[in-house]
Amino acid sequence: MKERIVTGYRPSGKLHLGHYHGNLKNMIKLQETEECFFFVADWHALTTSYRESVSLGPYTSDMVLDWLAAGLDPNKSTIYRQSDIESIPELELYFSMVIPLGELERCPTYKEQLRELDARVVNTYGFLGYPVLMATDILIVRALKVPVGEDQVPHLELTREISRRFNSIYGKTFPEPVPLLSKAPKIPGTDGRKMSKSYGNCIYLTDSPEEIQKKVRRMITDPARVRREDKGHPEVCTVFELYKAYPQMDLEIVKERCREALVGCTDCKDEIALEIAHDLGEFREKRSELARKPEVVRDVLMEGANRVKPIARESLLMAREAIGIGRL
Ligand code: TRP
Ligand code: SF4
Repeated sequence: MKERIVTGYRPSGKLHLGHYHGNLKNMIKLQETEECFFFVADWHALTTSYRESVSLGPYTSDMVLDWLAAGLDPNKSTIYRQSDIESIPELELYFSMVIPLGELERCPTYKEQLRELDARVVNTYGFLGYPVLMATDILIVRALKVPVGEDQVPHLELTREISRRFNSIYGKTFPEPVPLLSKAPKIPGTDGRKMSKSYGNCIYLTDSPEEIQKKVRRMITDPARVRREDKGHPEVCTVFELYKAYPQMDLEIVKERCREALVGCTDCKDEIALEIAHDLGEFREKRSELARKPEVVRDVLMEGANRVKPIARESLLMAREAIGIGRL
């Protein structure tokens, strides 16, 4: 029996290695065995970037092209855009009625983002309601499992809370979905911090082998290895962190030759850069092929929306029925 799975990505443009190893590879695997719903969370992007709304279209195209080139297959999984599903905002409205403010204000991601982002920008009703919208994305397709990163676990807890509250007030209508955490390696950005577009430290899937080599060469290594003959400590080196995402590399050898100063950092970097570029070879080919067919994204999203809409509509009608709204 296939299980229904859903996950969304905010459209942030081109995908980077952090996305690829953290989630995308897992999604590509899941579509072989489960019933997968993968969507572009453009309303979610709007909760923080409502002033940059002009980028949503191009970012969505770039991201969907990356998805397809990386191996998400519209014949195996349903790929769609949140804002094409009109039933979502109405269901969200009903959920917003039953979730207490305190639950949203206590949400760790909310508190953290209020501190980290410009508070004047995210001090909005829509941003506070972010987890309600996310719960709606999940419950409207009645998914049971949600592949997400660790940071999204509190949102899944809120999703279950919303489902429980709705069910206890109006009768059993929605499931209680659980997170599906992958034990993906953390990918460091080229500056050693978490890889993130806002830090400008990304290796993009679309980067050429030369760009990848250039970016990796600029990375900071073990600060104790000043000269070629200094022995290194791979456990403190960001380049070694990168190696760990490629299980085909022999980590024992990489450690050994670093500790014994048998290799220079530039050679060590070039080797992993080459492997990254090689690993993305098929992606690069497919991506440039797809870029010549601009109608592909539109077609994929339309087909996906057509598949999701009846399911979403049905969930919405179940909720309306349970609440008893719209009756006389
Ligand atoms: N909140 C998720 C993030 O920031 C994106 C998202 C929106 C999502 N709706 C979702 C993820 C539903 C899983 C399921 O990454
Ligand atoms: Fe890092 Fe490799 Fe240099 Fe060792 S040899 S410090 S692992 S880049």
